Amino acid sequence: MNFTSDLLATLRNARRILVFTGAGVSAESGVPTFRDAQTGLWAKHRAEDLATPDAFLRDPVMVWNWYEWRRELMRKVEPNPAHLAIARLEQLVERVTVVTQNVDGLHARAGSTDVIELHGNVWTNFCFDCRRPADVSDSPQVPPRCSHCGGMVRPGVVWFGEALPAAAWSRAYDLLQSVDVFFCIGTSSLVEPAASLPREARLNGCPVIQINPEPTSHDEIAQYVLRGKAGEVMPALLAAAWPTG
Ligand code: OAD
Repeated sequence: MNFTSDLLATLRNARRILVFTGAGVSAESGVPTFRDAQTGLWAKHRAEDLATPDAFLRDPVMVWNWYEWRRELMRKVEPNPAHLAIARLEQLVERVTVVTQNVDGLHARAGSTDVIELHGNVWTNFCFDCRRPADVSDSPQVPPRCSHCGGMVRPGVVWFGEALPAAAWSRAYDLLQSVDVFFCIGTSSLVEPAASLPREARLNGCPVIQINPEPTSHDEIAQYVLRGKAGEVMPALLAAAWPTG
């Protein structure tokens, strides 16, 4: 895999890097991307029709079981070379922050120490009514009930139509003013406001590096478009930029 000397110099001179990721960075771990066709018994459902507050209120058992199915799948997967290379960046650059749309927790498991989860984390739960964090380990009901108010417990992820966690969003947005390089890895850049981050970075004059096997609308704002799988491109890019590691 060849990289331009300009790209390698840009990386080597970077002090602060923001790595923005989507489902594609977990694809090689075996986690279906959001727009992959649903598999098995979920084949007849679109993710967009399940990950909403209305869907949960309409059929809480189905939505809860869908997340249980995804959590079971995610329990079996491991961080892939893309996650590991992103974590290794922290040894090579002064400051690295990961801003992810993923809810699988794989960046932290790979060793990244500063991860902003824009869309929440599937390993957490909270009460749909009182919004208190919920421990579901001993609740026999489906979905579990809140020990405080008796409301239904839901996964701690952002659903379609819901606002992003304010603190996570504002920290991610503020970071755009101070990063030297913005990686955009494994996202179709279809969902706002997350998809506005690469655009804002570019407007701030920050070089954007897009890594994706497919074209996306952000190709035109990226200064570097690396067409390939994150698990292959990222390790190769780090080896080329920092050959002595
Ligand atoms: P998508 O499924 O929309 O897009 C996944 C992207 O990853 C696509 O552009 C693929 O081409 C790319 N891809 C696939 N395999 C890859 C690989 N091995 N390496 C690199 N890229 C690869 O997932 P997201 O863009 O993450 O929001 O979707 C964003 C949001 O849409 C999700 O967080 C979710 C959904 O609505 C909420 O749940 C609120």
